Amino acid sequence: MAAVSKRLLVSDLVTFDKINQVPSNYIRPLSERPNLQHVSSHETIPIIDLHDLNSAKRRHVINQIRDACREYGFFQVKNHSVPESTITNMMQIAKDFFSLPEEERLKSYSDDPSKTTRLSTSFNIRTEKVANWRDFLRLHCYPLEDYVHEWPTNPSSFRAHVKEYCTSVRGLALELVEAISESLGLERDYIGKQLGKHGQHMALNYYPPCPQPDLTYGLPGHTDLNLITILLQDDVPGLQVLKDGKWVAVDPVPNTFIINIGDQIQVLSNDKYKSILHRAVVNCDKERISIPTFYCPSRDAVISPAPELVTEDQPAVYRPFTYGEYYDKFWNRGLATENCLDMFMATKST
Ligand code: OGA
Ligand code: NI
Repeated sequence: MAAVSKRLLVSDLVTFDKINQVPSNYIRPLSERPNLQHVSSHETIPIIDLHDLNSAKRRHVINQIRDACREYGFFQVKNHSVPESTITNMMQIAKDFFSLPEEERLKSYSDDPSKTTRLSTSFNIRTEKVANWRDFLRLHCYPLEDYVHEWPTNPSSFRAHVKEYCTSVRGLALELVEAISESLGLERDYIGKQLGKHGQHMALNYYPPCPQPDLTYGLPGHTDLNLITILLQDDVPGLQVLKDGKWVAVDPVPNTFIINIGDQIQVLSNDKYKSILHRAVVNCDKERISIPTFYCPSRDAVISPAPELVTEDQPAVYRPFTYGEYYDKFWNRGLATENCLDMFMATKST
């Protein structure tokens, strides 16, 4: 077994140390390994065409979203409003950022999850026992003017391309939040109104090639704590979603986004829609980049099950809380595998 790695970033470990074994601090115990040969290849996550979202056929699209949210908690979207050039530029600038020299990238490094702009590695190195095969740059991006000045200035077009991308993706997020609200039988603007001033974060995930992908993860199974996630991935597979107890691979389709329901929709929908476990696995040959946009409530927004979805038969599953409280608990909990939602259940009156 190779020794513990002393590099801050896993990309530099791969580039400079020319390892042919995974260092011991990345190795999962036998029972937690990805079992890559047991991934289902029969199932696919639905692809929804958004072309008709703003036409007379809107109801049809909304119903497809409802079915996908109920059955999978995940769907893909094509013919969305984000221009192809905006996507291409975003992906290229992410590649360029992770190709910068180590000392240049490390200027953004921090292991403090409360920092609004930071380059880090793994998932949460302050609380986890086993590290993950991922580096990531995390940015807050709404309202833009509050955060842009913190973003990297190298590569020189970084801020311009990322600004364009996150502004455009925000438009798509707002359309999807309305559609999801409607799909639950709520007013179109119900969910949007619960989010306070709204928040938006993004991550640029970089998964280097890994000599022993069976022993470790890019990201282990987790749910996203926010409202919805809009994921852009390059052409290298790696994302897997849990469906009926089996891991299903979500292979890349050009110019589509992958949308998933986060913990806050699970709460607002009073468990009608579930925030589903998903994970990223790595491979021997190719680096992989994925760019999730996490659309979220603002910290002071109060989240609770929508009153219209609470009945005598289906009482409120969760108590009201502020998103700030949820966010802090999520990042501070000891075990990343422990479901954070369990800490916010309504106390039963019986
Ligand atoms: C995430 C995530 C999946 C991927 O960053 O929360 O689930 O494919 N990423 O990188
Ligand atoms: Ni995720």
